[in-house]
Amino acid sequence: MKGLILSGGKGTRLYPLTYTRAKQLIPVANKPILFRVIESIRDANITEIGIVTGDTAPEIEAAVGDGSKFGVHITYIPQGAPLGLAHAVKVSQPFLGADRFVMFLGDNVIQGGISPLIADFAHHPEWNSQIVLTRVERPEQYGVAKLHADGRIEQLIEKPQTPPSDLALVGIYMFDHHIFEATDAIKPSRRGELEITDAIQWMVDHGYSVFPHVHTGWWIDTGRPDDMLNANSLVLDELVPTIAGKVDAQSKVDQRVTIEAGAEVINSIIRGPAIIGEGTKIINSYVGPFTSIYSQVLIENCEIEQSIVLENSVLRDIPTRIQSSLIGRSVEVVHHPARPKTLKLTLGDHSKLGLL
Ligand code: G1P
Repeated sequence: MKGLILSGGKGTRLYPLTYTRAKQLIPVANKPILFRVIESIRDANITEIGIVTGDTAPEIEAAVGDGSKFGVHITYIPQGAPLGLAHAVKVSQPFLGADRFVMFLGDNVIQGGISPLIADFAHHPEWNSQIVLTRVERPEQYGVAKLHADGRIEQLIEKPQTPPSDLALVGIYMFDHHIFEATDAIKPSRRGELEITDAIQWMVDHGYSVFPHVHTGWWIDTGRPDDMLNANSLVLDELVPTIAGKVDAQSKVDQRVTIEAGAEVINSIIRGPAIIGEGTKIINSYVGPFTSIYSQVLIENCEIEQSIVLENSVLRDIPTRIQSSLIGRSVEVVHHPARPKTLKLTLGDHSKLGLL
């Protein structure tokens, strides 16, 4: 089997962070989501992986390289234009050939990896496709499946106004080469894209066997900042903690905290689950649960919780607790107590600042 990761999207709902960084490279619990996706495919013993890229291709290629650091071999497949998930499959045909493959959206995070699902598909050569479904609160935002009473698929619809069920298509799909007949046959949807949902419906309509699997753990499509924070909390909750950095005698660090190499915690309290990245310094501060501080950050005289802070940022002397925040790279948030008490801000386009 081969792996196909779709990593072309612009991530407009995550502006301003995604002006300067591909959304798939934003870290959750200090590891880019795309790296988590590559590792979960590798953990299912798949080593030939194609990554479909768009405008952010140079950044993705620089971060992932040839795949050797993950123990896989990566082939990059430029999509040309973002014309839909089924279009991404179409342009990947030369890479995929006649092999069965798993396709994974590069911004999705799922509990428990995908090895058991892939094993299922590998053991059933008679299945032409397997799709993953999960119950969601707002099915109209996703591809939605209607199942027969015996569990077979009756209908799949992309973002229906009146959803026939609450079973959404998770961004993980398995196919054999018959999918190319479908991607060649379907027409663009109302949003002008070749929808993978329509391609799978085409397979169902033409007598191919598409097997649904209902996932019961958590799954997050990290489109918006809140999804990012949510994914961060869920992944932190499952992280096996390690302490490689330094913690001084005046600090209190919970059991469920990871302190990466070269990090220093000085006279501070860290409540888990949390992670402190390489070379980061936490001084006279409180870092609360569900917080990921990436590498080379300085946090001094601050309180922060349920947040993500990216590399090289500085937070110093902030008088109120920072909560539920997503702070980018090389950001400085510093309080100047001297009079006149003013706010001095340099904020990028689409920045959001909540002041009390
Ligand atoms: C895509 C698919 C949709 C699926 C979703 C999962 O939607 O078209 O069927 O439910 O991914 O994340 P998009 O993210 O392109 O809106």
